[in-house]
Amino acid sequence: MIKISPSILSVDILKLEEEVRSLDINGADYIHIDIMDGHYVPNITFGPDIVKSIRKITSKILDVHLMIQPVKKYIKEFIDAGSDIITFHPESDDNVEEIIKTISDANIKVGIAIHPKVNISDIDHLFDQVQQIIVMTVTPGFGGQKFMHDQVQKIKDLDEIRKNNNYNYEISVDGGVNDENAKICKDNGANVLAVGSYLLSKNKDNYSKIINSLR
Ligand code: DX5
Ligand code: ZN
Repeated sequence: MIKISPSILSVDILKLEEEVRSLDINGADYIHIDIMDGHYVPNITFGPDIVKSIRKITSKILDVHLMIQPVKKYIKEFIDAGSDIITFHPESDDNVEEIIKTISDANIKVGIAIHPKVNISDIDHLFDQVQQIIVMTVTPGFGGQKFMHDQVQKIKDLDEIRKNNNYNYEISVDGGVNDENAKICKDNGANVLAVGSYLLSKNKDNYSKIINSLR
């Protein structure tokens, strides 16, 4: 069954607690937390303290997506903050293997995210070490962008590679996901859908219906 990981990027920060609690009781599997530093992407969002705060109010999987550069010097803070999955962009730090080891040694799931401009062949040497691969279907940095259909082939290829090599990573799709493209993602092998504006722009009373309609 496909898992839904609502992204809190577009949440009104003054209503964050109410929104997270609502997503929790309305069936979210993960909570997707986009960390941006204004360096890897031209936007600044939250730091590790937001993970620490959200950790206190939900037991859902905290799916932390790091869009920061460098990564290594901050990893411990995100581990200590209570992340369950930490995903980063391999091109944003020279110490990829060390970062993967640090996260794994803390018994936290490791993810890598594939920027639309990055090819699978550039990073397939990491696939046997990770538990999540995020296919970015928008240019990282902002919510509310249009889904990039030309990235769907990566989902299919990753599913193929997973089957042929007996890898155990989950494939997550992140960016512009909505009711029109969720099925395409699933049909091509996605296990997780990170959904921001499509879900969070709706009335909270409909969260459960919308989350279930995406599965
Ligand atoms: C973009 C983030 C995504 C984004 C998803 O850089 O990684 O998680 O917030 O939001 P929507 O679904 O609005 O594209
Ligand atoms: Zn994200």
